[in-house]
Amino acid sequence: MGKKGGCGFVGWLMVLVILALLGVGIFLVVRHKMNKSDDDGDSIPGPPGAIQKKYSDALNVAVQFFDVQKAGKLNEDKITWRGDSALEDGSTVKLDLSKGMYDAGDHMKFGFPMAFTATVLSWSILEYGDQMEAVNQLGTAQDSLKWITDFLIHAHPSDNVLYVQVGDPVSDHKCWDRPEDMTEKRPVFQVNASSPGSDVAAEAAAALASASLVFKKKDSDYSSTLLKHAKQLFSFADKYRGSYCDSIPGSATYYNSTGYGDELLWAASWLYHATGDRSYLQYVTGSNGNDFADFGNPSWFSWDNKLPGIQVLMVAMVLLARLTFLGEKDTSNSGLQQYRETAEAVMCGLIPDSPTATSSRTDGGLVWVSDWNALQQPVAAAFLASVYSDYLLTSGKRQFSCSGSTFKSSDLKKFARSQADYVLGDNPMKLSYLVGYGDKYPQFVHHRGASIPADASTGCSDGWKWLSSTDPNPNVAMGALVGGPFKNDSYVDDRNNTMQTEPSTYNSAAMVGLLSGLVTTSSVVQSFN
Ligand SMILES: *[C@@H]1O[C@H](CO)[C@@H](O)[C@H](O)[C@H]1NC(C)=O
Ligand SMILES: *[C@@H]1O[C@H](CO)[C@@H](O)[C@H](O)[C@H]1NC(C)=O
Ligand SMILES: *[C@@H]1O[C@H](CO)[C@@H](O)[C@H](O)[C@H]1NC(C)=O
Ligand SMILES: *[C@@H]1O[C@H](CO)[C@@H](O)[C@H](O)[C@H]1NC(C)=O
Repeated sequence: MGKKGGCGFVGWLMVLVILALLGVGIFLVVRHKMNKSDDDGDSIPGPPGAIQKKYSDALNVAVQFFDVQKAGKLNEDKITWRGDSALEDGSTVKLDLSKGMYDAGDHMKFGFPMAFTATVLSWSILEYGDQMEAVNQLGTAQDSLKWITDFLIHAHPSDNVLYVQVGDPVSDHKCWDRPEDMTEKRPVFQVNASSPGSDVAAEAAAALASASLVFKKKDSDYSSTLLKHAKQLFSFADKYRGSYCDSIPGSATYYNSTGYGDELLWAASWLYHATGDRSYLQYVTGSNGNDFADFGNPSWFSWDNKLPGIQVLMVAMVLLARLTFLGEKDTSNSGLQQYRETAEAVMCGLIPDSPTATSSRTDGGLVWVSDWNALQQPVAAAFLASVYSDYLLTSGKRQFSCSGSTFKSSDLKKFARSQADYVLGDNPMKLSYLVGYGDKYPQFVHHRGASIPADASTGCSDGWKWLSSTDPNPNVAMGALVGGPFKNDSYVDDRNNTMQTEPSTYNSAAMVGLLSGLVTTSSVVQSFN
């Protein structure tokens, strides 16, 4: 989204366009940067806040991971040890599936988490594009987003067909090679009307709908194309219901989708944001909400579970609508209220001194849910807390209550900052889990490309020596957010310790969103028509 001019100073930015006025009008929600009176106090209106160097430096590092993960023909030499790869992906079905991103440390393109990466990146840009621009990262973020949305468009050759995987994980995992040198076969897998995948098709719809908002000003033709595919994919997902894991043998071993209802609601939420078409809002708040939203039960936002994301998006609808023209009828909509209450329950679980605070935390203060990929939940939760905090400020409703205790929007920012600080080195290991940031960061990231010297000529199987090598990675996987610490705040920097040392693109998207929300002193959105 572009800058909103004529407001007197540069701090005003447009972040969301919602068609709402009497069902047809358009009103804009603009972002207004705020000065903070003190570090944790509530913000008061004022000129744009100061740049926080720490988060700005970290953001500069974090966005680079998308360049590390890019497949296809690389136009720029951004990462010196990366080159063109996967150029023939899709050729067996006469499609160009060369773009997109490798999922993690291997060379698989898994459509389900890849689309989620794009959705979170879009959301981050929509909320915090102004902050990204203030530190010169907006272009990189948009370019990375487009690298995925280009792939998703190509992967959707007709209404009811979506290619959702490139590469066979079993044969891929038999190799340890650089993407530039890979020789393993690259089969492609699709979902269609007879073998559906509502979860993956709806996530792709969410990605393309949210990205259509990102590119609306910058490239309106591209934005329209994205929206057209998003609508078709949502119809496909909704009409032919089923989980992609039942259609694609073996996929459940890697990214098992535990249900597609959340993705259907998520896609409809983003389509409502992107189009203003009330039928999408009704989809989310009507019987589908009752069926799929799991009201009242806070959960963790992840590539598999979009519910907390939908709840927070719906809060934007309820809170911001009050200031504008959605009308009493909608703000008292019981579906919306239930989303809002559940979002509040999620937030109450995150604030450490809330009566309902989750006990899933390390002694070092990190929200901690799982040995595998431990940073996934805290980083995604902290991103949502940051966004929710800004929605509260925007609505003028700066306080909320958790079982009788009152908290401020700034308590949520403080939580978000605490998780970011932990990740960046303020932790018992005194280690930055963001590769390339700080004095001390992991040296043995589980990542094939980073572990093999760029000039080594290794094939599928003779590359394994680089996995077992006791030398640090020869290449820095800039911006990789590794899996993260154990419950006892410890971390074992070993290349074969996959659960702790493997990064992923979807965690990086949430990290980019989190850091972007912290880059300048707090911000607020305001509405006008
Ligand atoms: C539909 O998708 C399934 C699962 O990927 C595949 O086996 C089948 O061949 C596809 N149908 C068509 C007509 O291509
Ligand atoms: C995938 O998730 C489904 C639904 O939750 C579950 O029944 C199934 O056992 C899971 N499969 C794997 C391989 O984890
Ligand atoms: C890496 O770990 C896997 C699974 O634990 C094991 O099978 C393999 O032998 C290990 N490889 C090396 C090189 O240590
Ligand atoms: C921390 O936890 C891990 C995983 O449970 C365990 O292997 C390790 O020994 C523990 N370290 C310490 C110092 O207790």
